Amino acid sequence: MSTGAHEYFGGPHAEVNCIDRVDAEIKKEDLTLFCTLEPCNHTGKTPPCTEKIISSGIKKIVIGVVDPNPLVSGQGIRKLKEAGIDVKVGVLEEEIKSSNEFYFFKHENKRPFVTIKIAQTIDNYAADNNGKPIKITSEKSNHDVQNIRALHDVIVTGGNTLRNDNPTMNARVDFVANQPKRILLSSEAKADLKLNFFKDDHFQIIDDVDLKKVVQIIYKQNFNSILVEAGPKLVESFLKDGLCDRLISYQSPEPLGNEGISWSAVLNIIEKNGFNLTSSYTIDRDIKRVFIND
Ligand SMILES: NC(=O)c1ccc[n+]([C@@H]2O[C@H](COP(=O)([O-])OP(=O)(O)OC[C@H]3O[C@@H](n4cnc5c(N)ncnc54)[C@H](OP(=O)(O)O)[C@@H]3O)[C@@H](O)[C@H]2O)c1
Repeated sequence: MSTGAHEYFGGPHAEVNCIDRVDAEIKKEDLTLFCTLEPCNHTGKTPPCTEKIISSGIKKIVIGVVDPNPLVSGQGIRKLKEAGIDVKVGVLEEEIKSSNEFYFFKHENKRPFVTIKIAQTIDNYAADNNGKPIKITSEKSNHDVQNIRALHDVIVTGGNTLRNDNPTMNARVDFVANQPKRILLSSEAKADLKLNFFKDDHFQIIDDVDLKKVVQIIYKQNFNSILVEAGPKLVESFLKDGLCDRLISYQSPEPLGNEGISWSAVLNIIEKNGFNLTSSYTIDRDIKRVFIND
């Protein structure tokens, strides 16, 4: 038996890794290849997987789901059948779709999936009134956020957060992860490139307040998912434009204690716009809530 995964962006696809790991002694004609997603039949960053499968001599393949990507959809299956391979399609479809939900969402909705993450004090503040960053959540919650970053292709933030907090906005995780691209939405033509956000060239500045256009600019770069980590102004704009599929809030048990920059407008939209609370649990002393926009 052999297994394979698509391990990193631009790297060999799972089918190729799996076939390459089969013991040379084993006759490929006797093997069945199980794929979650339909093998590709076009040259992208790597050659077509169908060619690899056909030339390997494998005669039987089970495919979980037809690839929704129009460059692939149906064409991989047709090519394999034409080569005389016994192809079975449609196994564990829901499980496969949910394990790759951002990819399926992008192709079905013609835009990336948008997650918004906020941290709030018990009295619903995001920051001090003077904009100074405040430590809201516990180390364990902060660690959880790093994992969420690693799951997304792009992190979007706003000009005020950048100027006030000087965030790094990379995914600091202890496993191999594709670092999300950092996108700043700001009207400033000349951002202060000494800030942490610009420490390597995996960033982009988009000077457009029309978020539908912004999301299309990101979609055209072929990204599946966006994580918005910004203050209440930009988060509110995303919500008002109907561009939030999931909102994750981390609430600390501590109050800010004085006036600050508030999440109230954001929380009102969540409450009034049919977002469903799908999970709520404690992380250390904080409560993590996940709301889905149905
Ligand atoms: N608790 C948390 O989870 C959390 C997370 C992030 C930040 N914060 C805090 O939030 C504070 C800043 O919040 P904020 O609400 O003032 O600012 P913000 O939402 O971070 O940024 C607003 C800025 O984003 C840019 N922008 C571009 N398109 C926009 C659009 N369609 N709608 C709104 N803004 C758009 C503009 O930048 P330009 O002005 O450059 O054009 C605008 O001034 C910071 O002090 C930070 O500490 C808290």
